[in-house]
Amino acid sequence: MVRTQVVIVGAGPAGLLLGQLLHKAGIDTLLIERRSAEYVASRIRAGVLEPGTVEVLELAGVANRLQTEGLVHEGVEIGFRGHRHRIALKELTGKSVTVYGQTEVTRDLMDARAELGAPTVYEVDDVTLHDIAGPAPRVTYRLGGVTHEVVCDFIAGCDGFHGVSRRSIPDSALSVYEKVYPFGWLGVLADVPPPWTELIYAASEQGFALASMRSPTRVRCYLQCSLDDRPEQWSDERFWTEFRRRMGDDAGARTPVAPSIEKSIAPLRSYVVEPMRFGRLFLAGDAAHIVPPTGAKGLNLAVSDVFYLYEALRGFYRESDGDLAERALDGYSPRCLRRIWRAERFSWWMTRQLHRFPGDAFDSRLQQTELEYLFESRAAQAGLAENYVGLPL
Ligand code: FAD
Ligand code: PHB
Repeated sequence: MVRTQVVIVGAGPAGLLLGQLLHKAGIDTLLIERRSAEYVASRIRAGVLEPGTVEVLELAGVANRLQTEGLVHEGVEIGFRGHRHRIALKELTGKSVTVYGQTEVTRDLMDARAELGAPTVYEVDDVTLHDIAGPAPRVTYRLGGVTHEVVCDFIAGCDGFHGVSRRSIPDSALSVYEKVYPFGWLGVLADVPPPWTELIYAASEQGFALASMRSPTRVRCYLQCSLDDRPEQWSDERFWTEFRRRMGDDAGARTPVAPSIEKSIAPLRSYVVEPMRFGRLFLAGDAAHIVPPTGAKGLNLAVSDVFYLYEALRGFYRESDGDLAERALDGYSPRCLRRIWRAERFSWWMTRQLHRFPGDAFDSRLQQTELEYLFESRAAQAGLAENYVGLPL
């Protein structure tokens, strides 16, 4: 039997970042992950970092490459029926966002953990959480056919939406809020220089399209698609033809038919579980909430949860008085949820305004009216900008 202070379940960005922050505070962690290190390092996901996220990555000491390679964007564009309107993020809020792939954030965190010599066990099976309501929780897992047991003070459930942590909490202790959208996003990664300088979120008659990027030589683009679609049904030719049609302007038209290096479909969902703590188990990141990607908030929320959890655990270990130490933990869930619900609202709003929904003509006219208002009103643009760059931590 092994002992550590905090067992972290899941080595995605949330788990790795928590491990890094705790280690720097002198708190021991064991990180266990279901997949291989190569699999985790190659998953293509988010791309936009809020300034608050960059600050936390700086605090964790993993922002060197981000500062040299990240692309600072002072605006985003919203496209509607062939017109594009720039939302001047920097001018409206004083803040910019940084385009830097989640893949790169993950790689930086993995390198930093390896440098610290902190333990990560990959490719574990049958992860089970025990005695989470009491003061000495345990985690068991299987590795290469052998069962291992770890006793700890706390468990951090950073194992994403499909992980074991949230499912280990009795249903009666949780409230779940959920909305599933009737479409998905088909994403393509391709090695061509982006013909656009800032991200373009485009609403069109055929549905939503997003023009994003990863670097000066790599684009990342998305199309709203049917939940029944499979990536194999979308040849590169078909993807780019549809993309140009939805963009409906020169930036879209200039996109070459670039060979995709990755193509995948993600469903869209809004989901929150409350509270984010049960006894000695704390949930963070996608394990506790999902936002549709239209607001670029998922990774940013994972980072803010982790920052709050780091503060709570550091407060606990620094406090010698037992009651005060417990109080440091109590603030975690309410503090996270305040920020999460704001990001849920914004992500829902962006999704609602920019996608094509089945049916309702009334809703469709409201959507048009909302976008026209956005283009004409500086106040409406300031609201979007304030949320897009992220509310303060
Ligand atoms: P995950 O990244 O899901 O990591 C969880 C880890 O736990 C995984 O490695 C998993 O293998 C592991 N695990 C699962 N079960 C177990 C188990 N039983 N035992 C051990 N380990 C386990 N967010 C943004 O902020 N900006 C964006 O621009 C953006 N764009 C996105 C675009 C797309 C197409 C998608 C799909 C998502 C996007 N997101 C974006 C969301 C973002 O990618 C996620 O919110 C983020 O990955 C959450 O990190 P996490 O560490 O909480 O969870
Ligand atoms: C991405 O580049 O993958 C990306 C950017 C912005 C979003 C979602 C995804 O809102």
